[in-house]
Amino acid sequence: MEIVIIGSGNVAAVLGRKFKAAGHHIAQVFSRKASAASALAYEWDTESTNYKSLVNKNADVYIVAVSDNAIADVTDDQKLQGKVVAHTAASVPMEILKGVTDHYGVFYPLQSLRKDMSELPEIPIYFDGSDEMTKKTLEKLAHSISDEKVVEAGDDGRLKLHVAAVIVSNFTNHLYVLAQEYCRKEGLDFKQLLPLIEETASRIKAISPKEAQTGPAIRQDTETIQKHLEILKNHPQLKNIYVLLTGSIQQMK
Ligand SMILES: NC(=O)c1ccc[n+]([C@@H]2O[C@H](COP(=O)([O-])OP(=O)(O)OC[C@H]3O[C@@H](n4cnc5c(N)ncnc54)[C@H](OP(=O)(O)O)[C@@H]3O)[C@@H](O)[C@H]2O)c1
Repeated sequence: MEIVIIGSGNVAAVLGRKFKAAGHHIAQVFSRKASAASALAYEWDTESTNYKSLVNKNADVYIVAVSDNAIADVTDDQKLQGKVVAHTAASVPMEILKGVTDHYGVFYPLQSLRKDMSELPEIPIYFDGSDEMTKKTLEKLAHSISDEKVVEAGDDGRLKLHVAAVIVSNFTNHLYVLAQEYCRKEGLDFKQLLPLIEETASRIKAISPKEAQTGPAIRQDTETIQKHLEILKNHPQLKNIYVLLTGSIQQMK
């Protein structure tokens, strides 16, 4: 397919690389920052622009991979009738693109993507479309880059999925941040915890998270919990979270 990428951030870069690797042609990259657009265009041996009026009108598919609150701004004066135009946000309704084309949709990658990733990850795609043609096109495009799941999902389903994604990815990472800060202050090496982190994450492929729960809270080991709280007196933010999560785990018994 001929694809125009709108945006030059993390998702734009990784999806563009995936499309290119799958044999699609990136017809153009648009970004408000000329240097960022031309860097990706150079990588993909294509053209770039930072002028909305110069967006190529001859592609099959337009992937709008800009910040959620910029989708309307970037597309409001685009007229791409007959073309398939999809944004990549979980929590933004598909209808935001209604004025751009009759064939609007969503191409949401359920993965944490970064421009500087050394390897292209597996990316499950959740897609939606305003009509059958749009859905079929986006589904085909998704299958071309993803051996993982390709699933049709409406606005409500994507929004609910996004809540779960924030919890398992963003919140877990925030706990790593706090733990790393704790280790630094206590003179410990955070990297000592990496084998434990990997084991805990991989275990839930085989058993449920509830079955995989270990630690003093699930064992109702109040003596150990008290010792931990004593140490955490010097780390008030972490102590609050420790108390909250301990209570939550104990309720699951
Ligand atoms: N990253 C992920 O893991 C991930 C996963 C799934 C879905 N998504 C969704 O994918 C979309 C893009 O996310 P991202 O992570 O790629 O974001 P990002 O790395 O922060 O890149 C955002 C892009 O939007 C552009 N932009 C921001 N505000 C703009 C404005 N007012 N006008 C024009 N362009 C503007 C930025 O341009 P500048 O560089 O000039 O600021 C940049 O090209 C979002 O809807 C996000 O929810 C992200």
